[in-house]
Amino acid sequence: MKQIIGELHLNITSKQVEDSSALIQPENLGDSAFCRELGIKYPYLGGSMAKGISSVNLTIELGKAGMLGFFGAAGLPIEKVEESINQLMDSKVPFGINLIHSPNEPDLEAELAELYIRKGIRLLEASAFLTLTMPLVRYRLHGIHRTPDGKIITPNRIIAKVSREELAEKFFSPPPEKLLNNLLQQGHITTEQAELARLIPMAQEVTAEADSGGHTDNRPALALFPTIQSLAARMQKKNGYNMPLRVGLGGGIGTPTAAAAAFAMGAAWIMVGSVHQACLESGTCDTVRKMLAEAKQSDLSMAPAADMFEMGVTVQVLKRGTMFAMRATRLYELYRSCESINDITATEREKLEKTVFMAPLEQIWNQTRSFFLQRDSRQVERAERDPKHKMALVFRWYLGQTANWAKTGEPDRKIDYQIWCGPAIGAFNEWVKGTPLEDPANRGVAKVADAIMKGAAEISRSNIIRFYGGVSETPLQIQ
Ligand SMILES: Cc1cc2nc3c(=O)[nH]c(=O)nc-3n(C[C@H](O)[C@H](O)[C@H](O)COP(=O)(O)O)c2cc1C
Repeated sequence: MKQIIGELHLNITSKQVEDSSALIQPENLGDSAFCRELGIKYPYLGGSMAKGISSVNLTIELGKAGMLGFFGAAGLPIEKVEESINQLMDSKVPFGINLIHSPNEPDLEAELAELYIRKGIRLLEASAFLTLTMPLVRYRLHGIHRTPDGKIITPNRIIAKVSREELAEKFFSPPPEKLLNNLLQQGHITTEQAELARLIPMAQEVTAEADSGGHTDNRPALALFPTIQSLAARMQKKNGYNMPLRVGLGGGIGTPTAAAAAFAMGAAWIMVGSVHQACLESGTCDTVRKMLAEAKQSDLSMAPAADMFEMGVTVQVLKRGTMFAMRATRLYELYRSCESINDITATEREKLEKTVFMAPLEQIWNQTRSFFLQRDSRQVERAERDPKHKMALVFRWYLGQTANWAKTGEPDRKIDYQIWCGPAIGAFNEWVKGTPLEDPANRGVAKVADAIMKGAAEISRSNIIRFYGGVSETPLQIQ
């Protein structure tokens, strides 16, 4: 250390620098009270990845390594979610689970929240919420009480993921009065619980999500994080909670450098997604893992999202090696310009049937119709009245299937794989070049997370030395 530091020209000795920088261990980078409360060692969270891509296995491996994973419950049948919860509970490691806002399927959101309450799930990652909903507030307030010494205990915790300050503000506020009244009327909470609810934030913790894989507002982390952080301080002052509000950062983190930057800005924890999808334990196939391992920064594209296709919402996906983004974008253009399937020109329709759907569109509609008759027959009734809606459902068949084909590794459909990922994967791939982690077969999630955290601590130590005027190398070797 001494020869690296060289001569320091400040009122501090190299010994003091050495002592203070030695304190920078991975477990000290974020908010240690947060880690203690969650029962984890490192301020490192694995974000939920839909359809079990953040699998039971991935979540457990992170937990065993002293970190915390969120199981990706979105898009899974409720029975599968329950089965996964049982496995996670048996593992005895800390974990969380996703509750994603489903404006098109409010019953599903409510059913999931009830399941989480029934199973005694204590930590949710709440994402994609445009506004606070009854099921979410009901989950948060379930079991709220005051101890004899006056302390408010809220057993159910929500870490909200947001990319916009208006939403962060809602989560940092107490539950809305209107929803409290509804819960009171429905007998889900008592008057005393409603009183206590006015003294707590909906979420004590918010992950600010910058440009990431999947649904993203493509926000730059350097602008987003300080905004949400400042908002948290303001909301704390306004509400005088007896608990601190905390902010973590996700989106774009795939290297020690990015992690160190997040912690340097004051992130209480970091959240990783895209890089985990390329890990051995993720619930995708080896072909996708290999495709991800070859991705660079520029191999990404925005493409229409299956769940909010008609609204023009997009997701960030891998472009390299798949035509999904191009084909899905074409479907959206057709949806915008045509009033019904019959408006599509004969040549275009033939092309779609041959290359994209690989079946006549009427056949796809029959399949889609049967699916929705089981799941939500209102969709079929609407489609039979409204040909534009029928077209949307047919196009959404492609958007739904492409994600399944990628997950299961459907060999004939490789060119259509829909793989959500963000620029973090390109940064990670570049960083691990020439190391064992270059090979996807070596990317165990705990090893990857450990390398990112240890590297972040090394960089933070080097930075301290550098800020004091010393010369420091940046040792980024992966052991
Ligand atoms: C394949 C994939 C699926 C995702 N699915 C979800 C999801 O279902 N719910 C959610 O809250 N976030 C989801 N995300 C976002 C991640 O939880 C995480 O916030 C994000 O990936 C972090 O940014 P990064 O991709 O730059 O690491 C997903 C991300 C990816 C890459």
